[in-house]
Amino acid sequence: TVCPADAGKPRDAFTTSLGIIAATLGSAVGLGNIWKFPSLTGANGGAAFLVIYLVSTLLVGLPVMISELMLGRQAKSDAITTLRTLAPRRQPWWLVGAAGALAAFLILAFYTEVAGWVFAYIVKAAAGGLLTTDPAVTSKAFTILVADPAQSLFWQWLVLAVIGSIIVLGVSKGIEKTTKRLMPVLFLLLVAIGVRSLTLPGASAGLAFLFRPDFSKVTGTTILTAMGLSFFKLSTGMGTMITYGSYFRDDQNVPMTAIRVMLADLTVSLLAGIAVFPAVFAFGFKPEAGPSLLFITIPAVFAAMPFGSVFMVLFFILAAIAATGAMLSLLEVPVAFLHEHFCLPRLKATAITVLLLGLLGSTAALSGSVLATVTPFGMTFFDLYDFLTSNLLLPVGGMMICIFTGWVYGFGRVEEALSNGGVIANARVIRIFFGIVKFISPLLVLTILLKGLKVF
Ligand code: PFF
Repeated sequence: TVCPADAGKPRDAFTTSLGIIAATLGSAVGLGNIWKFPSLTGANGGAAFLVIYLVSTLLVGLPVMISELMLGRQAKSDAITTLRTLAPRRQPWWLVGAAGALAAFLILAFYTEVAGWVFAYIVKAAAGGLLTTDPAVTSKAFTILVADPAQSLFWQWLVLAVIGSIIVLGVSKGIEKTTKRLMPVLFLLLVAIGVRSLTLPGASAGLAFLFRPDFSKVTGTTILTAMGLSFFKLSTGMGTMITYGSYFRDDQNVPMTAIRVMLADLTVSLLAGIAVFPAVFAFGFKPEAGPSLLFITIPAVFAAMPFGSVFMVLFFILAAIAATGAMLSLLEVPVAFLHEHFCLPRLKATAITVLLLGLLGSTAALSGSVLATVTPFGMTFFDLYDFLTSNLLLPVGGMMICIFTGWVYGFGRVEEALSNGGVIANARVIRIFFGIVKFISPLLVLTILLKGLKVF
C-alpha cells in the first residue's frame, strides 16, 4: 500500500553502505553494552557466561538478525506489513510483527528511563556534583534521583523529546545522519576510557574478574539470561531489524553486514567491560551488578582517578550516544508502522508514539518512587518490562522468525534474497545459515526458554 501523500516518491531509506552500517550498529550498540553486558558477565561467572553468550549469538542472535534484515529488505515495509505480505494468505504471521511492536514499547518504557539517568549524569558530572570517591555519597545521589518523581519524569520525557525530534526527520536525514556522526565519536571515547582504565595500577584483577571462567555460577537461568542478552544486544526478535532491513540498499551484502555489526558490537561490549572492571578493582570497589554499577560505582571510580572528572563526563556522553542510536531504532518500529500502514504523516505518527510512551514509560520512571510498592508478578514495572522483553518476547519472537524463514519462506527464496539475485557468490554461507535457522536455532531457543522459565 502506497499512501496518497507518498505516491510517486521513492521510499525514504538509507543512502550509503556506510550509513547502513552506522545505523544498524547504532541500533545494536546501546545500554546493553555498557549497562547490561559488564554487570551480567561479572555476576554470572565471567568467561563462562561470555562463552555461552558467544555461542548463543552465533547460533541464535546472528541467524535471527540475518533473517530479519533479509525479510525486511524483500518486503520493503514496516515489520507488521512485511510479515503479512511475505506469508501465505490466511496465515497470521503479522502477529509476530505486532508482538514485536509491543516489545518495542515495553523496552522503550524502561530504556528511556535509564537513558534519562545517563543524560542527568552528564549534567551532574559536568557540574562536579559526583566528584566523590565515597560510594555511599554517589549512592545517595542516585537514590535521590530515582526517588524523585519529578526529576525521573523530567529526564525521561527529555529523552523522548530528543529521540522524537530526530525520528521526525526521517530515515536518511534523521537516523542515518545522526548515527553516521555519532558512532565514530563513540568508538574514540570508548578507546580513550579503556586505555585510561587499563593503565591504572592493579587493573589486572578487573580483567581476571571479567575473563576468568567460573562454571559453578551457570544454571538454566544463566543460559536464558545469556540468550536474552544476545537477542537484546543485536536488537533482534522484535522487528527492529526487519524495519531497518527495509531501508537497506538492494546491493547491500546482508550476511556480511550482519556479521560485521555483530563483531563490532561485541568489540564495544568487551571494551566497555575492559573500561569498567579494571578501574573498579584498581580502586578497591566492589563489582556490584545492575544499575548500581553504572550510576553508583562508576562515578566514585572516576572521581578516584587522575583527570577523573573529565573522563566521567566523557563516559556518560558515550553512554548517551550509545543509548540514542538504540532508541532511534526502537522508536522507528511503531512510527514506520503508523506512517506506512495508516498513512499518518511522520510528525503525527511520531507524536502519537511519543505521547503513548510518555504514559507507559512513566510507570517505569515512577518505579523508584510512588509506584515502588506496586509489584505485579513480584517485580516493579521497570523490572517487569525488562524481564518480559528479554526473557520472553524477544526469544519467542526470534524463534518465530526462524520458523518463518526456515519453514515458510523456504530455501529457494532465501538463496535468491541473500545472494542479491545471484550477484554475490556466497552459496556456502547461505547453506550453513539456512541449516542453522531451520533446525538449530528454533530448537535451541525453545529448550532454553522452557528450561530458563523452569517448565521442566
Ligand atoms: N541493542 C540495544 C542495546 O544493546 O542496548 C537495545 C535494543 C535496541 C534492543 C533495539 C532491541 C531493539 F530493538
